Amino acid sequence: MSLLAAGCSFEQSVLHPGGRDAEELTALTWFMFAAAVVVWAIVMGAAIYAVVGKKRPRSERFADTFILIGGVAFPTIGLAILLLFGLSLLPSWTSAETPDVRVNVRAEQYWWRLGYELPDGKVVETANELHLPNDATVEFVLTSTDVIHSFWIPALGGKMDAIPGRTNVLRLTPTKPGTYRGVCAEFCGPSHTLMAFPVVVHKVVDFLTWLEAQQAPAAATRDVFTGAGCGACHVVRGVTETGSVGPDLTHFASRKTIGAGTLPNTRENLLAWLLAPAHIKPGVGMPSYASLPEADRLAIADYLMELR
Ligand code: CUA
Repeated sequence: MSLLAAGCSFEQSVLHPGGRDAEELTALTWFMFAAAVVVWAIVMGAAIYAVVGKKRPRSERFADTFILIGGVAFPTIGLAILLLFGLSLLPSWTSAETPDVRVNVRAEQYWWRLGYELPDGKVVETANELHLPNDATVEFVLTSTDVIHSFWIPALGGKMDAIPGRTNVLRLTPTKPGTYRGVCAEFCGPSHTLMAFPVVVHKVVDFLTWLEAQQAPAAATRDVFTGAGCGACHVVRGVTETGSVGPDLTHFASRKTIGAGTLPNTRENLLAWLLAPAHIKPGVGMPSYASLPEADRLAIADYLMELR
């Protein structure tokens, strides 16, 4: 339920920006809202005056001037100001500045495969939880495996589609450390609304610590995990590296949620997930492990909770 409650907090609010683009969009929103209130008040005032005001004949010249100012000049100038304000907020596509961090994002039904590019060209794979440095330019390189999804972190900025066979680039600059919520913003199937991801914006040094920890292989191994065939779909670096259909689980326990933002990451929820993932998330690619002996499910859950 805490995730439902989170929907009412500022984690996913475009009006409580935590990034440069979102700040600009919020400013534009309030400017347009204020301008709309002024126009509405003028029109309502004119309407009320027309109904209850004293009726008296006007000269043709007055009527012409009234139409020219109220019906031509005012909308033309008003819309031109709005257009110029809007255009001034367009990102400059010619910017050659290299981003501070590049994250490869591959949308899947219904989760996010994430790869952090390191300076030496290596990529650190993770899933379903973004960690970003504050006050840094982050470039997201977006694509999709199956259908069109859309990558959106409302508190940080605008959204961008993730399209199969195409690469889209989105740049964001977080300006306020904190935890936000990102979502899929394009209907992509029955679990479209269960395709979210926490976004943690750190101070730069904390981000580097996190990235360093994510590069390490998994600490331990358990026969029950590989024995149950989990490795056919999931990579746990240092343990099983062949299957990659599902999310990388190397540092699974360090994540806040399971099922891509669907449930808080607790042992209890994990056990429910192993038992009947499709009950929690319709259309999910993960099969049920109800056929495993309960002791094995418990052991798998215990193991995953160790993968910090
Ligand atoms: Cu993915 Cu909607």
